[in-house]
Amino acid sequence: MATELAKVTINGKLFEVPKGARLIDVCREKGFDIPSFCYYADLALQASCRMCLVRIEKMPKLQTSCTITVTDGMVVTTQSEEIEKAQRGMTEFLLANHPLDCPVCDRGGECELQEMTFDWGGLEERFTEQKNYYAERYLSPMVANDPQRCILCKRCTRVCDEWMGEEAIEAGGRGAHTVIGTYLGWLDCSQCGNCIEVCPTGTLLDATYRHQTRPWELAQTISTCNFCSDGCQMSVGSRSGEVRRVVARDRYVNGINGEFLCVKGRFGHPFINHADRIRTPMIRYKKGGKLIPATWDEAIRHVATRLDEVAEAHGRNAIGVVGSPRLTNESLHVLRRFATELVGTENYTTTDLYSLQTFFENLGAPLATHRDIRYAKTIVLIGGDPSELQPLTGKQVRQAVRNGGAQLILVNPIPIRLREQAAIFLHTNPGTEEAVLLALADSANDQLAAKKGGINSEHIGKAREMIANTAGDVVVMFSAALSSEAQAVLGQFATVFGGEGRRVLLHPLPLFNNSIGAHDMGMMDRHLSPEQLLDAAGETIRAMYVAGSFLPEHLKDRADALSKLDFLVVQELFENETTASADVVLPAASYAEVDGTFTNNSGQVQRVRQSIPPLHQSKADWMIVAQLAKELGLDFGYELSASAVFRDIAKNVPAYSGMTYPLLKDESQPVQAHYATAASESDGIAELRKQVENLDASGEKITVTPKVGTELFRLGRLTEKVPQFQLLASGNPRPETTAVSPLYQITVLREQANGHG
Ligand code: SF4
Ligand code: SF4
Ligand code: SF4
Ligand code: FES
Repeated sequence: MATELAKVTINGKLFEVPKGARLIDVCREKGFDIPSFCYYADLALQASCRMCLVRIEKMPKLQTSCTITVTDGMVVTTQSEEIEKAQRGMTEFLLANHPLDCPVCDRGGECELQEMTFDWGGLEERFTEQKNYYAERYLSPMVANDPQRCILCKRCTRVCDEWMGEEAIEAGGRGAHTVIGTYLGWLDCSQCGNCIEVCPTGTLLDATYRHQTRPWELAQTISTCNFCSDGCQMSVGSRSGEVRRVVARDRYVNGINGEFLCVKGRFGHPFINHADRIRTPMIRYKKGGKLIPATWDEAIRHVATRLDEVAEAHGRNAIGVVGSPRLTNESLHVLRRFATELVGTENYTTTDLYSLQTFFENLGAPLATHRDIRYAKTIVLIGGDPSELQPLTGKQVRQAVRNGGAQLILVNPIPIRLREQAAIFLHTNPGTEEAVLLALADSANDQLAAKKGGINSEHIGKAREMIANTAGDVVVMFSAALSSEAQAVLGQFATVFGGEGRRVLLHPLPLFNNSIGAHDMGMMDRHLSPEQLLDAAGETIRAMYVAGSFLPEHLKDRADALSKLDFLVVQELFENETTASADVVLPAASYAEVDGTFTNNSGQVQRVRQSIPPLHQSKADWMIVAQLAKELGLDFGYELSASAVFRDIAKNVPAYSGMTYPLLKDESQPVQAHYATAASESDGIAELRKQVENLDASGEKITVTPKVGTELFRLGRLTEKVPQFQLLASGNPRPETTAVSPLYQITVLREQANGHG
């Protein structure tokens, strides 16, 4: 439908803009700067700061442009003496209780209030009364608070409520004594730090970065988060080869996530410069012996000789090649070429927990972007818990319902927090959500699904009706843990529910930052699981080349599998259970030290950019593999250029054809891989029905909603390196005093990490 346009005159210039657009947005888009504090796009209106004043012809007094929508014939003035006088007055008023000590405030240099005051210069200050005084404090290990700097714009409370669905931070007190704080003075929330990000002043501050550097001392590098599959864009702030903080502040970066980041993306970076990073290549010359530091040349030669020996003695398929869903596409591509063209083995895979191979083989609809989710009319979520595992997706779902009026259909054995947003919650018996999926796809299975899932079949009918009656986009999202049979049916969901005026979009929810890229680079096309490979260790598999590591879940019940190998090479950041059995350990560079790309759960291929030089002797994973390949006689010809590797990807991976680094340059215009869509050739529904018939539905219904952070704060091999995460994982205890960082008051000793961080 064509958008209706309205003619609006701004400062004497005529424009045609969408009718009903918000005036402040229109003015800014057309290049007329309008100051604001409380306005924040896509949040409920606050309209309290009165900074966004404009004059509109035929209206009696100055108007707040954030509350006005454009109508045809509107004549607007954004700059005049009258407007400036009013805005100066408002700023003076905001400063009445605000300390004027910017040099000691951590927000100095990127504070909107400071900038506004400086922009105008010579601002009068006629208030002579004593300013309010409040002591600085910590609200959590992540959030520091200086209450007296607050201008009560309430961006923080709205973000917490609307983005996070948490209402953890609130305004308390009255009149001039109103302050932002939290119940009992300690934040029991998901610790996303988005309240810090959107705070225009130095009231809410990053407690992990406080007093470290000034913002202008930091080099800002736009990159992609290395934790979950959402692929948030962020600005990595570094100084002297050290990553000091990560933000999504819109003055530095403008990605799919806006200013949103979750606790991992924002605060999980200290693993990068951690003292335990592997510093040099190491060789264990004899089983049970020690790892001895070696030069790169020695290590590469040693690996080449030993792999040759294994291939000679046991054949090429005796060598397993294993990548990690955390690696860049470039590293995974080179690793696959290494496996197939050089080693010549059929035994290669990725250390992901789940595979989406069957979903992609049956893909019949486009993948939903995070923007599509935000503006969807109906969202179906089958399994999973995006609030904890893919937090940006979780935020988009909440906003789609809350700010966009979308209907959420939730199919889950766990009453996850998103059920509060659900129009229909099909609360299944544990492990039976696939039965509902089957019934949604084919109503002949309603009774079977109701029986297995322990739900009312009428509710399944209602959900189906809701989808079928949707005008607009239906986004179907699902946990990657669903079986391959279920994924095959999901891939074909558009054939069931697509129709006139309705588009079906799919959104898989894998766990890792590059789970999708690992699929795209062909590292999972053998349908070989890491467990299968480990089970063959010492039998048909005699050597392994592992870039990354096996996960604790893979090694559970297989603790000695790796020690059965004749030869094991591991490229890693830190020593762990996998390197403990390695004959050669090679220091790999983290995402902050390399160039490359990750592909997110929308199939968007986004840039990873080098923020700091590789630490110690580490190298990008793909460079290590390429160096080894050269030693073994195959020169891939990439020299030291990640963009050369990406050109090779674009040539060989059809979904990436035509892509180049320059094309991916602008993070605000992410490029989606063009996946081939296919009509399913197999009888997916019959296959799934067989599987559902055999489902064990005897588990007791789960009635308890998991606490915030149940998954998010679970320590992984990277987040366990962050002391603040240790506190969160220990239940975020409130320290004796909030005047001092909890880090100096509480010591926690953690068991080995077992999460996905
Ligand atoms: S850290 Fe996140 S969840 Fe906690 S108060 Fe701030 S916005 Fe809310
Ligand atoms: S704490 Fe910051 S974001 Fe919240 S109301 Fe105060 S100034 Fe605004
Ligand atoms: S939502 Fe995912 S991609 Fe975004 S910051 Fe968090 S972990 Fe990173
Ligand atoms: S931005 Fe319009 S009133 Fe605050």
